[in-house]
Amino acid sequence: MQFTRFINAFKRLETPFYFYDLDILDQTLRTYTRNLRKYGYIAHYAMKANANPRILEIIQRSGLGADCVSGNEVQLALDMGFDPETVVFAGVGKSDKEIRTALQGGIFSFNCESVPEIRIINDLAAQMGKTARISLRLNPNIDAHTNKHITTGRSRDKFGISEWMLDDVLQVFSECGNIKLIGLHFHIGSQVTDMNVFQMLCDKVNYFQRWFEQRDIRLEHINLGGGVAVDYKNPLENLYSPFETYFETINRTLELRKGQKVHFEPGRALVAQCGFLISRVLYVKIGKGKKFAILDAGMNDLIRPALYGARHAVCNFTSASEKTEVYDVVGPVCESADRFGLSVRLPETSRGDMVAICSAGAYGQVMSMRYNQRELAQAYYSPDL
Ligand code: LLP
Repeated sequence: MQFTRFINAFKRLETPFYFYDLDILDQTLRTYTRNLRKYGYIAHYAMKANANPRILEIIQRSGLGADCVSGNEVQLALDMGFDPETVVFAGVGKSDKEIRTALQGGIFSFNCESVPEIRIINDLAAQMGKTARISLRLNPNIDAHTNKHITTGRSRDKFGISEWMLDDVLQVFSECGNIKLIGLHFHIGSQVTDMNVFQMLCDKVNYFQRWFEQRDIRLEHINLGGGVAVDYKNPLENLYSPFETYFETINRTLELRKGQKVHFEPGRALVAQCGFLISRVLYVKIGKGKKFAILDAGMNDLIRPALYGARHAVCNFTSASEKTEVYDVVGPVCESADRFGLSVRLPETSRGDMVAICSAGAYGQVMSMRYNQRELAQAYYSPDL
């Protein structure tokens, strides 16, 4: 990705804006699907990562299904042409309305997280004369060793069904006629950098498989969720996540039964590196022992640094200076948390310079908001520009 190619086009545009390089997206999808299909695995794109219609359209055409976490996401996936048979619906708090939307759409599977939820899905399916396919989202009690806000598989987290709840779950299935158990689902966290964590997950899945087998329950599907990390430090040198090692780890560790299908729900690793938040420097302000580069992009455009302390690479791609300096790169919003990076080394920076905040394609635009009544950033795409 070379910004110089786009400088003239960028200079004509009002900032801040999201810029998506669709060639990077395309290459990422090719790399991902090549490795996925080597093992006959199936993937559902976690559309919470980025639900921009242009991006969704490309992902849908690449042959992936959709992983949804709200009724509106289910509806959007169906409207965008995702085959209902490839749509899965997760979430600890599915409302009746959302469940009805998914039943009406005839989705592939509800990923269920509690006994009361399974009962309600059964009741609503009965009212609509349908049978709902259900995968149990199990909580394997594994720490994904990632940011505390995005680790989801420990027993103290709100997600999933723990082993001690399983007898009650089976009881519900024996009592209810409008649900069918088709598989197990897991998602232990996001931005997981340590492959051993996925190996531990597979060991737990093997354990749960034996648990169900001992009770004569056959499971057709194992869904291992998402979580593959991207390189936020050196994004331009590492555009693609280590998909080969990831699937190789899974294939080596997971013990499958005859005919079982393995599913994944990639989000971040597919879309993070194709997206950039492009901004202009409004002011360089001298602070106490430091300099602030004040951008026209703020936490309302990209909330990850403020919310999770996430660090995104920042590039000043218009400064002609040979000298570098250290800046706190901050936004204009009235919150101290509105900063993209502390002590960031950049080429000498001045008003009007343009910067790119990298790896902004996942959980960027989709989490943006109008706080301070700021406008939502527009999106532009290469090769259009
Ligand atoms: N499946 C389920 C059930 C999930 O909850 C998630 C993400 C995924 C799949 C996709 O995971 P990925 O491949 O993207 O790691 N806003 C946070 C990330 C929240 C992730 C929520 N769940 C961030 O900006 O880091």
